Amino acid sequence: MSNLPKDFIRINNVSRRFQSADSEVVALNNVSLDIPQGQFTAIVGRSGSGKTTLLNIIAGLDTADEGSVDIDGQQVSNYSDRQQTEFRRRTIGFVFQSFGLLPLLSAAENIDLSLRIAGAGMRDRQQRTSELLDQVGLSHRSDHRPYELSGGEQQRVAVARALANNPPLLIADEPTGELDSTTGAQIFSLLRSVADSGVTILTATHDPFVMEHVDVVREMSDGRLLPQGEGIVTSRIIPDKKDKSIPRQRTALRPPTVPRRAP
Ligand SMILES: Nc1ncnc2c1ncn2[C@@H]1O[C@H](COP(=O)(O)OP(=O)(O)O)[C@@H](O)[C@H]1O
Ligand SMILES: [Mg+2]
Repeated sequence: MSNLPKDFIRINNVSRRFQSADSEVVALNNVSLDIPQGQFTAIVGRSGSGKTTLLNIIAGLDTADEGSVDIDGQQVSNYSDRQQTEFRRRTIGFVFQSFGLLPLLSAAENIDLSLRIAGAGMRDRQQRTSELLDQVGLSHRSDHRPYELSGGEQQRVAVARALANNPPLLIADEPTGELDSTTGAQIFSLLRSVADSGVTILTATHDPFVMEHVDVVREMSDGRLLPQGEGIVTSRIIPDKKDKSIPRQRTALRPPTVPRRAP
């Protein structure tokens, strides 16, 4: 079997329109994008360009009007709601702009809850929670509740929680939107190390620091995905636009290390 990375996500000619009282918004206009396993991809673009809509359709939280989405060789765009929910549970970890931690639970308990929902036993949960807190550098904050943590620390807990059940895909919509730039850079650096462990990551962001950490940046404009290296936001975060090579693009990705799950 080949060890070359295969496309983990294949988005083909996806369109999504929203109807309001007197007009129609084309949120996604014929978007196609292939993402290899283990790649860290950032979608940039102005507010309203369609980033969240694209992420939501990939995540199965919204449905395309046209086109198809394949994840890990499965055409999830044809799944029923119930199949989508099950697929999401097994396949995708989510990180949100506003962290989304439960305020009455400690850092460890927030992570533990994800494992508990997935049916893990107590001993496994304890071990996995402590591993995850260690991975995100927060072993010393395990008993703290969200209000006792900084924004950056809360987002680290949220990343740990998203990774709890070993999803092969992490989706992060504006994960640094509520953080200062230094803290934001630390979160991207953490996500970089997660990608290096074989997890495919897709993020939407305005953050110029994203460039230093991701493999590929793609820009959306008015619902369209621009060719790689093009766009107004991209030209700001990639200073020398004539040099089309993306600085951190690697020539070879590691072989996939994500354990396969039973279907
Ligand atoms: N549920 C919705 N109903 C109506 N319009 C929507 C809805 N979701 C998004 N839109 C519109 O679609 C466009 C793209 O939105 P979005 O994907 O949220 O952009 P971004 O995340 O890049 O800011 C915007 O014009 C937005 O107003
Ligand atoms: Mg958005």
